[in-house]
Amino acid sequence: MLLNRLEYRLMNNPLRAAFQRYFESRRLLQMGGPMNGGVALEIGCGRGVGVAIILDLFGADTVHGFDLDPRMVALAQARLAKRQERTRMWVGDAAQIASPNAVYDAVFDFGIIHHVPRWRDAVAEVARILKPGGRFYGEEVLKSLVVHPVVRRLFKHPTEDRFDAANLRSAFENAGLALHRWKETCNCVAWFVAIKPGGQDGPRPS
Ligand SMILES: C[S@@+](CC[C@H](N)C(=O)[O-])C[C@H]1O[C@@H](n2cnc3c(N)ncnc32)[C@H](O)[C@@H]1O
Repeated sequence: MLLNRLEYRLMNNPLRAAFQRYFESRRLLQMGGPMNGGVALEIGCGRGVGVAIILDLFGADTVHGFDLDPRMVALAQARLAKRQERTRMWVGDAAQIASPNAVYDAVFDFGIIHHVPRWRDAVAEVARILKPGGRFYGEEVLKSLVVHPVVRRLFKHPTEDRFDAANLRSAFENAGLALHRWKETCNCVAWFVAIKPGGQDGPRPS
């Protein structure tokens, strides 16, 4: 689901970029370790700040990203114009990812799955496109915040069939992803690293 005007502005804001760069990403790095090479995908990449972080902080060789909103993809392409040889952006839907199976070493979700009506399909798609041993790093907004009256008034999210921590964790399990690290903030936000079993190269200890 596309962002409303308020959330679009909040996401395209230097404060959002600083929070993502200096807090969210560092926490996920601590939980799941660096990539040290390989190919990553960011789902719902917004204006491309996360893609740059995955290159610079996580050490991916190549990062792909897509977003449902063509305006966001255009902003991301402009931001990453000088890094075209290591990045690729497209317009797409997390519930149906335009990718072959088992091609990514890591997938990143900076708060987008709660925007997807068919969110379980998005989790299953992430599992499908990860290589065995690949890592799914993410932070997500949980049901108690999505359905809070103030949040509902200010923002536009799907409100039916939203996930709490237990729902999200069981969707990982159903998709065949093993939870490696999990943290929650006030039953409102979840931080996680999940792994597709079968690889030899486990995550570096956090
Ligand atoms: C809260 S913003 C986060 C943007 C960016 N990841 C960040 O952290 O700044 C959610 C993003 O998900 C995108 N989005 C919403 N539904 C989507 C879907 N089904 N597939 C892909 N992207 C989606 C929105 O257009 C928006 O850019």
